[in-house]
Amino acid sequence: MNVLGIESSCDETAASVITDGKILSDVISSQINVHKVYGGVVPELASRKHILNIGTVIKTALKEAELSLDEIHAVASTSGPGLLGSLVVGLQAAKSIALVKRLPFYAVNHLKGHILAARIKDNNESNIPEFPYMALLASGGHTGIYHVKDIDNIKCLGQTRDDAAGEAYDKVSKLLGLGYPGGPIIDKMASIPGDSIKFPQAFRQKRSYEFSFSGVKTAVAQYISKQNSINNEQAHAIAKGFQQSVVDILVRKVVLAAREKQVKNVVLAGGVAANSALRKHALEICIENDLLLFAPPKNRCTDNASMIAFAGYLALQKSMTSPLDTAPRSNWPL
Ligand SMILES: Nc1ncnc2c1ncn2[C@@H]1O[C@H](COP(=O)(O)OP(=O)(O)O)[C@@H](O)[C@H]1O
Ligand SMILES: [Mg+2]
Repeated sequence: MNVLGIESSCDETAASVITDGKILSDVISSQINVHKVYGGVVPELASRKHILNIGTVIKTALKEAELSLDEIHAVASTSGPGLLGSLVVGLQAAKSIALVKRLPFYAVNHLKGHILAARIKDNNESNIPEFPYMALLASGGHTGIYHVKDIDNIKCLGQTRDDAAGEAYDKVSKLLGLGYPGGPIIDKMASIPGDSIKFPQAFRQKRSYEFSFSGVKTAVAQYISKQNSINNEQAHAIAKGFQQSVVDILVRKVVLAAREKQVKNVVLAGGVAANSALRKHALEICIENDLLLFAPPKNRCTDNASMIAFAGYLALQKSMTSPLDTAPRSNWPL
């Protein structure tokens, strides 16, 4: 089954073709250059850019897959959560193709796309997590722990009460006068050996799966405001300390959840799962606790359309489809 997947929930216009769960093409047109001057995504600009790019991105995905639209058997698209003006562009394109070509259509929850991405097989040797697994989903818009028993049996055990982990990365980067998105920049800075400044962690002792990242961001802001200026060495120490605080609490909570629910497999998902320190620390702690860690390749942690095509494919295999009057949903909890 050839599935065309489309993603436009935030600032990436993406399309992918997969065949029987294997990726044939995975095209992403990033809008980072449009938004970086503002230090974050500007919704109106994002939706305008999606409108300009969506046609070319879909055509390129088909071309790279060496398939024509007539060879596509089903269409899947993100329909939420995300920015409404962005979502509507990809969703409308997907529904139009499905309508004109009389194809089955499936509306994918973006969070589910991230959570199932670790199950995409890249080649025959690919090691994928079996159900059930415990997923840490950490991105720019969401941070939570999910108990995943099947594609349609996913339970959120807890999430952030305020900022998402990726949002905190982006804000700290902005405070330090660095670029957008902040995650990869701070990841790189923090990997350079040197001192680190200790920053607080919320809910560390609490046996819950909730997070809060606004406190650590404020602590960084207060630290910076107390200095006359920040030199390079101090910026590195701040980046390192901030990252240690975030990575430690993320790993701590997902491992706690896996142990308490007696789940052997742990999955990292979402843009922050591309973080090298998170991947390293999670692996160490999982080994210590006799757990198995799975994470998609870094480029499949951040927003992409292959995870949307894949989630659609899994649903369509179970004969699940969505009506063509499906509307975008800015808020769509799992
Ligand atoms: N290497 C990294 N380390 C930490 N955070 C990262 C890294 N790469 C990306 N991020 C963060 O991931 C977030 C984007 O996540 P993504 O899933 O692509 O988007 P969305 O939040 O729209 O679903 C951004 O906040 C970005 O800073
Ligand atoms: Mg995402």
